[in-house]
Amino acid sequence: MLVPVTEMLQKARAGKYAVAQININNLEWTKSVLATAQELNSPVILGVSEGAGKYMTGFKTVAAMVKAMIEEMGITVPVALHLDHGTYEGCLKCIEAGFSSIMFDGSHYPIAENVEKTRELVKICKEKGISLEAEVGSIGGEEDGVVGMGECADPNECKMIADLGIDILAAGIGNIHGQYPENWQGLNFDVLAAVNEKVGQMPLVLHGGTGIPADMIQKAISLGVSKINVNTECQLSFAAATRKYVEAGKDQQGKGYDPRKLLAPGAEAIKETVKEKMELFGSVGKA
Ligand code: 13P
Repeated sequence: MLVPVTEMLQKARAGKYAVAQININNLEWTKSVLATAQELNSPVILGVSEGAGKYMTGFKTVAAMVKAMIEEMGITVPVALHLDHGTYEGCLKCIEAGFSSIMFDGSHYPIAENVEKTRELVKICKEKGISLEAEVGSIGGEEDGVVGMGECADPNECKMIADLGIDILAAGIGNIHGQYPENWQGLNFDVLAAVNEKVGQMPLVLHGGTGIPADMIQKAISLGVSKINVNTECQLSFAAATRKYVEAGKDQQGKGYDPRKLLAPGAEAIKETVKEKMELFGSVGKA
């Protein structure tokens, strides 16, 4: 069964650890993440971007696959299926498809419009028992080969959005999706502390979890971060392990071309990455 993130993240915030949101791209990804969470007795959030949802033929396919996998694999730890950076329409589609949690990313709208759209989604989510993440400020990332630094959140705007009744809040604090550039200035803890003070006990979300040094992760958790999103790091470890297999010529030995063999090293590498993250975030044994 899928659960919303509300309870697992309130527990994480109170217990000073964070739950990993690991983005999934296909069956192998999902299976590796679920198996690792179960093995480590950790709660987990499966993140699905709109692009990944489309790749897997639609949100209904994703929800059906994840629910069936939880049952077939005998997964007993809390699992949330969460839309990552959703548009308003994408949020409605995921609610309809059976996701247990959604993120509405209205950060690119003027704040008044972000507030209005978030308010409407709060109402729908409350009726359906689904958790809702909203975003203020923006997360940097690569666009057309240039890495943008994002925009730090305004703590007062964070309070406006938090007061609408959302469950969790993502605030831009100098974090970036993808790999961090050489000249990255690090997370802005002054902004994080100010946001944390404004929003009370609301669990905060740190996007762009790939490549953030351990000491910054610990400090962010101490300032209210209870969910950390990781996507690129699993892609990198999957690609590296697959490359190693092919470069060693293993796909040409015996039935090494069988997809169940060809994709196995990548799937194992994802497990290792997820394990590292769960240990670093402190969620092991917290299911
Ligand atoms: P990374 O790809 O940098 O790990 O970021 C993931 C993320 O924040 C998804 O919302």
